[in-house]
Amino acid sequence: MTPLQHAEAQIESIFLGDYDIGACTGCEGCRNSWECVIKDDFQSLIKMLDEANGVVLASPTYWYTVTSDMKRFIDRCYSLIQFPDSRSEWIGKYDGTGKLCVTAAVCEQKEEGHMGNTLTLLTDFAGDIGLTVVDSVKALNCFEAGSIQKEKTAITDAESAGQLLLRQLKSPT
Ligand SMILES: Cc1cc2nc3c(=O)[nH]c(=O)nc-3n(C[C@H](O)[C@H](O)[C@H](O)COP(=O)(O)O)c2cc1C
Repeated sequence: MTPLQHAEAQIESIFLGDYDIGACTGCEGCRNSWECVIKDDFQSLIKMLDEANGVVLASPTYWYTVTSDMKRFIDRCYSLIQFPDSRSEWIGKYDGTGKLCVTAAVCEQKEEGHMGNTLTLLTDFAGDIGLTVVDSVKALNCFEAGSIQKEKTAITDAESAGQLLLRQLKSPT
């Protein structure tokens, strides 16, 4: 985790690979509690999410979807939804909190189909746990680290998404 002081917001960058997050076992131990019973680094990430006003969820594409690190994190966030009345309706821990989110995905190929569901998965997940997704950004044609710098449209889109997030955090609608 790298804490950064920004002129207008305090930003923390988190790399899921730095955290020990075990797989969800589907034990249903989180039923009625909003808390996962597996004790590992997941709890510290949720504490950060609890305290954040906004979050950017980003993943490269591995086999048409998010990385296994991101998928494990998302699976463990099963504890952030509850099914009070029926299994076909759920509520998210952050519903009504006004927490904002931007989602972002990267892939190597130039055709969007090769990104698979990376971006839609992140966006659907964010909505399910009660985050309000204000923008989603995709960057195609990015193989090597840093190659996104050549993708001017993606960089512009990412900057716009960041500015929109910041504006909405400062003046919620
Ligand atoms: C295991 C693996 C699977 C990948 N699958 C895809 C894919 O399905 N579609 C695609 O366009 N790129 C795919 N890529 C390329 C990565 O999305 C791309 O290189 C990305 O920039 C890697 O980011 P990273 O260096 O942060 O891991 C794959 C790369 C790896 C290592």
